[in-house]
Amino acid sequence: MNFDDVTQVELSPTDSETEVQTTSSPQKIEVRAGNFHLIFQVDEDKRLSQLHFGAGESELQPIGTNQAFLPFGEPVFDNADSDGNATLEPALQVLHADGNTSTRLEFVGHSSQKLDENVTQTRIELRDPNYPLQVALLFKAYAREDVIEQWAEISHSENGPVVLQKFASAAPVFGPQDTFLTYYRGNWADEMNREEEKLGYGVKTIASRMGSRAHLGFNPSFLLSIGAPAQENEGEIFGGTLAYGGNFEFQFEIAPDHRLRAICGLNPQASQFRLKPNQTFALPAMIWSYSRAGRGELARRFARWGRSYGMREGHKTRDILLNNWEATYFDFDENKLVSLFQGAKDLGMEMFLLDDGWFGNKYPRDSDKQGLGDWQTMQKKLPNGLSFLADEAQKRGLRFGIWLEPEMVNPKSDLFEAHPDWAIQQPGRALHTERNQLTLDLSNPAVRDWMFDTVDGILGENPGISYVKWDCNRTIGQPGSTYLGADEQSHLYIEYYRSYYDVMARLAQKHPNVEIMNCSGGGGRVDYGSLRFAHEFWPSDNTDPLRRVRMQWEYQQFFPNNAIAAHVTDMKKRPLKFAFDVAMSARMGMDMDTSKLSVEEKEFARNAIAQYKTIREVVQLGDIFRLESPYESVRAAQISVASDQNRAVAFAWQLETSKTAPARLVLRGLDAQKRYLVREINLKAGQNAQVGENGQVLSGAVLMQNGVSISLAEQFDSAVLEFSAQD
Ligand code: GLA
Repeated sequence: MNFDDVTQVELSPTDSETEVQTTSSPQKIEVRAGNFHLIFQVDEDKRLSQLHFGAGESELQPIGTNQAFLPFGEPVFDNADSDGNATLEPALQVLHADGNTSTRLEFVGHSSQKLDENVTQTRIELRDPNYPLQVALLFKAYAREDVIEQWAEISHSENGPVVLQKFASAAPVFGPQDTFLTYYRGNWADEMNREEEKLGYGVKTIASRMGSRAHLGFNPSFLLSIGAPAQENEGEIFGGTLAYGGNFEFQFEIAPDHRLRAICGLNPQASQFRLKPNQTFALPAMIWSYSRAGRGELARRFARWGRSYGMREGHKTRDILLNNWEATYFDFDENKLVSLFQGAKDLGMEMFLLDDGWFGNKYPRDSDKQGLGDWQTMQKKLPNGLSFLADEAQKRGLRFGIWLEPEMVNPKSDLFEAHPDWAIQQPGRALHTERNQLTLDLSNPAVRDWMFDTVDGILGENPGISYVKWDCNRTIGQPGSTYLGADEQSHLYIEYYRSYYDVMARLAQKHPNVEIMNCSGGGGRVDYGSLRFAHEFWPSDNTDPLRRVRMQWEYQQFFPNNAIAAHVTDMKKRPLKFAFDVAMSARMGMDMDTSKLSVEEKEFARNAIAQYKTIREVVQLGDIFRLESPYESVRAAQISVASDQNRAVAFAWQLETSKTAPARLVLRGLDAQKRYLVREINLKAGQNAQVGENGQVLSGAVLMQNGVSISLAEQFDSAVLEFSAQD
């Protein structure tokens, strides 16, 4: 394929992004991110069609006949303009101000702007020839990471509001080969269960309709494997993840000609949006990556992108924190906390996170039944306030952080008594609580600003707080607002998230040194929309290390490892070494009363924390190669490799007792030419090395071909291996 006929207009950096250059009948428009590209074609009738999505110039040919070119924003089902495609799910559905239910989008022009040496932004402008309604398709292509970010913006100047009934961010076409969908089912304390199925005819929908806490249904991420089920190290595979924490919808429709269209974006259910003239409706970004070498390479691409563009301070390692939730729940006071600080310091930890239960006076937060919304320090438990605690932590060399859940209110609270109308509710319906709480109506600017001022106030008054765990423990039920007008009630889900992001952005700007952990009853806010304003996330309230092996494995498919909080706890009373060896493979912390550990356990923990500090950079920021899948074997294993390939750390976890002879552990990702010292670390006192080659120097080639012998056999046996290149 010769790209000379790909028309691109370069805008100078000073040109406004909204300015669109109309070009003379461009034939093709290319969005290219490294080897991954998306190519559109403008047909003779000015319709925009997708020509290609994937890689490899040699394969560039139209996928099928006319039918292949499904236009973006295909009109609604009953469109008079139907040209044969209208029986498919629409990406866009609009009710015009005059009541017309059809939309036809024609190409107007496109522009492309290099934002820096890695990122190019492309804008394709479409317009309805009969109505002043525009849809802009926007793309950011990240060359180094092979990632394309895609979203849409809708605007109009009709003489009244236009009702947006459906509004995808992206709607690419795949196939016509068989396509296998991998998605991630969840529930409370049971996040990221991987499911894979071959897509059949009709529509398969993966969605969230609960406003928040998407993990009670599905994580907003998926894989599409072309031709065969997804494999770790081979096969053509696409990954998509929506940068949005609210209601989303992915529809996978196989058309009668066997091609697949994936309609991805906000969930329109109960969210019709009346867009006023001259306003722009900007949709959340869909983030795509692609690999011809299976899930593993795809995961490394997403992680690289995530560190650079998808989160705050993605290239920094995270501190080791002690959290008191599983250690104390609501049952603590100042002395107890200070003793926990001392325990954290004695083991070498770097930060203390004070969880739920530190606030409320008229309604003290001694359980989840009351006090939420009253963000004043509880005098009874903490007479000297938060700054005293931050100082006590600092005296022991620890940073200090707090838990907040500012989007919520208990009916038993000062806040609710003062502002009952601030809770999300519907006229005439009895209030329904979840975990004894209601959601605040962030669509109301007064509530939004109260939320900002409250958090800003706490952080301003207590400069010793440098970390916040931001929780969100219920879904948005009874979606109604006392603030929004009768004709805008269906805006609530969308306006809620706009306000939430607005507050998070303002807080990040005003308090750049405060790290944020996203939490939502566990992993309900694990998405790149929320992660933009955060440093990490709480993957699950399930901290059983056995369960965490698979869970962390799946989060690593889309998210950087320094964002994945993994705490050592005593849940299910697993062996301490196993719990550490699982937590050490991501962003390690602890969540237990360390005074309850035996002398030997304390010694082990102190050692493990010291060792983690030496490997943390490789583990948190390195490239991960998954070696043995927990789905296919009784042992799971992975290795993190530093970008210069001079250091690597491998983890192996025995998930079930095995009766067969232990297999060798074959490494990946090393430099074949380099020679590495193999060292097993994190052994218990007096424990013999479980790796035959411990202490030997072997070439990367040998390690990647023959591997090492490793004698794990009993369930919960585990090993951590360090590989350091020798000069
Ligand atoms: C949620 C979080 C927990 C903890 C509790 C506190 O369930 O996921 O980690 O913070 O809230 O109430």
